[in-house]
Amino acid sequence: MAASKPASPPPGTAGRERSTLLEVHELKKHYHSLGEEVRAVDGVSFDLQAGEMLAIHGPSGSGKSTLLMTVAGFIRPEGGRVLYRGQQIAALSERERCSYLSREVGFIHQSIHLMAHVKVVENAALYLVLDGMSLREATAAAIPWLERVGLGQRLSHRPEQLSGGERQRVAIARVLARGPRLILADEPTGNLDSVRSAEVIELLSSIAREQGAGVLLVTHDLEAAAIADRRMVLRDGRLLEAADQVQARGLLSGERDGAHRR
Ligand SMILES: Nc1ncnc2c1ncn2[C@@H]1O[C@H](COP(=O)(O)OP(=O)(O)O)[C@@H](O)[C@H]1O
Ligand SMILES: [Mg+2]
Repeated sequence: MAASKPASPPPGTAGRERSTLLEVHELKKHYHSLGEEVRAVDGVSFDLQAGEMLAIHGPSGSGKSTLLMTVAGFIRPEGGRVLYRGQQIAALSERERCSYLSREVGFIHQSIHLMAHVKVVENAALYLVLDGMSLREATAAAIPWLERVGLGQRLSHRPEQLSGGERQRVAIARVLARGPRLILADEPTGNLDSVRSAEVIELLSSIAREQGAGVLLVTHDLEAAAIADRRMVLRDGRLLEAADQVQARGLLSGERDGAHRR
């Protein structure tokens, strides 16, 4: 686990940075279950610049979560490479991989895990405390982020007093408070109505611009994906070619409210 690290500067104060943050080359992750092979990620290549938000849009089962977990280094790919600022993730030692995860990556999960009996502000400060900061410093660093996600009036509430959408925003503030340079967001709008959903994606997009962070968003939500700087379409573990993407987006918009929600 990384030693204590100063929290990111307050929103809006950091300079912009434009450089390649992430390079993904021919990435493959196949699962083997009950004698069957599932090609969850099947030769995916893309890159992500610092300061950019890229949305990978696909229906349920298209390989989005597997792709994100492989980029985070939780899953080891069986083919291809992920480079973070030129460094291959699979070649990192266990210690270096932990440092990459704790210092560089902010993973926004689809399911929210807050501590039920702990105040919102302490929940938001949790990762900073785990990084070695005092609770006092960590809560002071977390408060601007809670304000930024619209929860400045909820600091002393307990998670059970919040709506699902508010809980999701606490989880997002908790990740952002740590100042990650690479934000990986797996269906971050799953618990939100469309207005809140757009606000959360706009927030991630402005964090990318202001902090020079890269945001990789995977989602089945077409409206959320539309806010990103760039969009790609994932189908059956493969990114579609540019020409097919236009057609696929048309197909996906028809599926939007159908059985593919997850
Ligand atoms: N641990 C696993 N073992 C076997 N198959 C899996 C596993 N995790 C995911 N899959 C399969 O891989 C495919 C992609 O899954 P996933 O990455 O979760 O897609 P998405 O996030 O787009 O819904 C699906 O067919 C899913 O059933
Ligand atoms: Mg998923």
